[in-house]
Amino acid sequence: MLIEYLGHSAFLVTHDKYSLLFDPFLSGNSLAAKKPEELNPTHILVSHGHSDHIGDTVEIAKKNNSIVYSTFEITEMVSKEGIKVQSGNIGGKISTEFGSVKYFRAIHSSGVPGGIACSFIVEIGDNKIFFAGDTALFYDMKLLEAEKIDLALLPIGSVFTMGIDDAVKAVEFISPKTVIPMHYNTFPAIKQDPYEFKKMVEKDLNTKVIVLDPGQSVNY
Ligand code: NI
Ligand code: MN
Repeated sequence: MLIEYLGHSAFLVTHDKYSLLFDPFLSGNSLAAKKPEELNPTHILVSHGHSDHIGDTVEIAKKNNSIVYSTFEITEMVSKEGIKVQSGNIGGKISTEFGSVKYFRAIHSSGVPGGIACSFIVEIGDNKIFFAGDTALFYDMKLLEAEKIDLALLPIGSVFTMGIDDAVKAVEFISPKTVIPMHYNTFPAIKQDPYEFKKMVEKDLNTKVIVLDPGQSVNY
């Protein structure tokens, strides 16, 4: 499985013939590693409706016939554009061609009337990924420990999401094998040192932190 960090909370996860694009905020992000037209994902997962997450979803999905996974309010909205969608909501687990997608909580707003933000637990190949989206720290993250998460993608930027201290606590609750931090340094308000986060996690917890710059990738 190849994990490519595209900047902010955007990741491309590729395994076999499947490529999953998470929260593709590329246009309008000067640090984004790719342009929308460079991507051809089979699936796009959208955690919530804020523009720094739904981003270029419509354009990319239209061009590539990608299936968009999101909560009901967002799939309703984008399906009007003629896009293929798979709707779900918190607690639901959907079997897919590549494994499964389970919708989990996030403590955050969505930017779409009536909608709420979510996170995703994704099984792909032999790996289980937790993509947190935008969220505060919340104690129900402790439930993820039983999911035996291999890789957690967690925001550390503060102001709009968890900051470093709370994200370290989230790692303790989730207990994943590996963490990649996201949602920091895109703009001044969310400036953070990811290596400080790495140092704090690896000092006390049995989890490895991989810091990626936009455009960098790791084989997992
Ligand atoms: Ni947000
Ligand atoms: Mn955000």
